Amino acid sequence: MALLPAFWKPQSNNFNARPVIRPVARLRPGETRASSAALRYGETLKATIQSALVRWLNHRNRDGTWYAPLTIAANLWMHDGEPTFFALVIDPETLYHYPSEKLIDPRFTHALALHLGKDVYAFENNAATPDGSLPRGIVYEVVLRNLPRLGTGAPTATELPRSVKLDLSRRPSKLHVPLGVTAQKPHGLWLSIAELDAVLIGGSRRMGKTNLVHAWIAALSGGGAAHLVLFDGKGGLEFGRYRGRAGVKVVDGELLPTLRELYAEMNRRLGLLRDAGASNLNAYGKGLPRIVLIIDELAFALQESGVEALLVDLAGRGGAVGIHPVVATNQCRAEVVTANLKVNLSTRIAFAVPQASDSRVILDAPDAAHLPANIRGRLVLRWEARLIQAQAFEVDLPSGSAATAERTLSERELRIARAALERGGVFKAREIAADVGEDKNKISELARAWQARGWLTEVQRSSKGNGGRRVADALRELVRGG
Ligand SMILES: Nc1ncnc2c1ncn2[C@@H]1O[C@H](COP(=O)(O)OP(=O)(O)OP(=O)(O)O)[C@@H](O)[C@H]1O
Ligand SMILES: [Mg+2]
Repeated sequence: MALLPAFWKPQSNNFNARPVIRPVARLRPGETRASSAALRYGETLKATIQSALVRWLNHRNRDGTWYAPLTIAANLWMHDGEPTFFALVIDPETLYHYPSEKLIDPRFTHALALHLGKDVYAFENNAATPDGSLPRGIVYEVVLRNLPRLGTGAPTATELPRSVKLDLSRRPSKLHVPLGVTAQKPHGLWLSIAELDAVLIGGSRRMGKTNLVHAWIAALSGGGAAHLVLFDGKGGLEFGRYRGRAGVKVVDGELLPTLRELYAEMNRRLGLLRDAGASNLNAYGKGLPRIVLIIDELAFALQESGVEALLVDLAGRGGAVGIHPVVATNQCRAEVVTANLKVNLSTRIAFAVPQASDSRVILDAPDAAHLPANIRGRLVLRWEARLIQAQAFEVDLPSGSAATAERTLSERELRIARAALERGGVFKAREIAADVGEDKNKISELARAWQARGWLTEVQRSSKGNGGRRVADALRELVRGG
């Protein structure tokens, strides 16, 4: 693995990583097109990276001095007379007591990128290029000039249609999902879920996140190549409609038990591949289906303790064995999209958001704040070295809207609903918990899910305080039917 940019494929066991070589021209000795201001800027960057490294490595020599990595090269890479990249290369031999993973750790490059306000890529170059243009060592590359957008000139709002229907007949394979139409792909850009690996989707309310996910479900379900595990954070309101389809599991209550199963499956598969000496699912070749875990409403999922850690691990190590989380959120804040999650969700998609800072949480770039907020389904995809604007396909949802999806109550649900009806249709978690002998938090959780489904009203508040939720007609009918 000569050139593994840690930014996209942070896991050392991610076998799908591909080398990426950028078309940049390096400033050769004697070439004087870099202005002295640019060179001074390069020196500042070098000093910043060095001091950040020392802090990150946190290593003090015996004599009390800080260990400073030996710089063997610091270069400005020029293109058309302008500095495009800055590259700092350190000799790994001077750092033998640090594993190179630590030096190219995505958490470090991410922190550096935030600090410098530029994209930073770190990778290990084990083979010197014959012409010496890229020295051997650990390379920190700072992107000084924005990478080219797909096509010449960014597509403007008017260049893309405002709405296009999904046409599944254009699907290139059973593992491909649609991103939408782009300036370069007017008939639609489709990418394989294996390439996408693990996906983060962010954007303001009602901009089209769930619609995109429905399009992916439509593309993946029924083909037999992928299994789907769906959690909508609304107690099945969105994804309940897919219940009963072959290869689809809709998670109703808590997410954690399902994540544990997936985690066990991931470890089982890692073991199988290891024993077979295969480095990835394709090399293993024994028909393990890909599993796509879709979580809409990440913030809701994270309310369950333990979910985040499992999700981070699935996102980080699952790809090589065909387990691919796809996570959507309307809360583009670092408290929800934590650094650990983000670094492991390598493909990023953002719909319009109000602020550049929201956009950065998802894309590490401000572009989603410039999307037209009046066009639903307009998105920016960060894919390889590019930001690509697309108009997602509009999906006609399968009939039998989830809200009315035929559904019977489980024994437990029936017991709880009856307890509320016996209390005149008033649902106060504390009282119901006492009635049915369950934990109050569990009942509160169920109440939130039932409210999202339209089975309970909101909490009724009055001058007398919390009056509890009320049982809605939909639930009454289900109890009658059950
Ligand atoms: N690609 C699209 N093309 C045209 N219309 C769309 C598209 N995507 C979404 N819409 C419209 O916008 C509405 C909201 O979309 P969606 O429910 O997917 O948004 P969301 O981002 O998931 O919202 P929320 O944050 O509330 O869950 C849809 O009902 C649909 O009418
Ligand atoms: Mg949604």
